Amino acid sequence: MKIAIDGPAASGKTTLGRRLAQALGFLFVPTGAMYRAAALAHLRGLSIQEVEITVAEDGHVFLNGEDVTAALASPELDELSSRLAVDGRVRARLVELQRRLAQDRDVVMEGRDIGTVVLPDAELKIFLWATLEERARRRQREQGGDFAQVLEAIRQRDERDSTRELAPLRPAPDAVFLDTTGKSPEEVLCLVLRLVEERRAHLSRRASA
Ligand code: DC
Repeated sequence: MKIAIDGPAASGKTTLGRRLAQALGFLFVPTGAMYRAAALAHLRGLSIQEVEITVAEDGHVFLNGEDVTAALASPELDELSSRLAVDGRVRARLVELQRRLAQDRDVVMEGRDIGTVVLPDAELKIFLWATLEERARRRQREQGGDFAQVLEAIRQRDERDSTRELAPLRPAPDAVFLDTTGKSPEEVLCLVLRLVEERRAHLSRRASA
C-alpha cells in the first residue's frame, strides 16, 4: 500500500507521516527533507547530478552518504529548498530517487506533488491543511523567531510552491481533504488510521469480487 500526504508548509505532514508509518510498519519518506538536502548540496557547490539522497528506515536523510538530518530544519533551507524546487532538473532527479525508494514497498510519502506526480496510483491520498495562522504558530514553536516574520515566510513559500509551473502544490482529484486546524497530532493520526482501514476494506472487497 502506498499513502501520499500532500499539503502546504507546516501543515503537519512530517509529524503525521512519521507516526502513521510507525503505526503501520511502513517506510516513511519525507520528500520535503530531500528538497532541503538538495538545497544543502547546492550551498556546498554540488550540482544535482552529483547528489545521491537516501532516506533510512529510521527517517534519517543522507546526502552522499553523510547523515544531514540535523542540519535540515532551518529558515535558510525553508527558503532555498522552495526556490530550488521550481527547477525541472532538481525535480526530475528527486522524483526518480523518490520512486526508487517506494518501489515494491509499503510507504507513507509526504510532500507537495506525491498524489499528483510522484505516486499517482497511491491507494490513499491525504491533502493536509490548516489555516496560515495556525501553521505559523506551529512553525514558531519549532524554530522560534518573530511571529509576523514566520507567518510572512510561510505565506511566500505557499505562494511559490502552489503557483510554480512544474508540479505545483494542489490536491489530487481523489485526495481526502483534512483540515487539522485546532486538532492535535493524535486526533489527526486517529482520523487517518480510520481512513486507512476503510481503504483496506474497500480494496479487499474489490479484490474478492
Ligand atoms: O515540506 P518542506 O517544508 O520540508 O519542503 C521544503 C520545500 O521543498 C517546499 O517549500 C517545496 C519543496 N518541496 C517540493 O517542491 N515538493 C515536494 N514533494 C516536497 C517539498
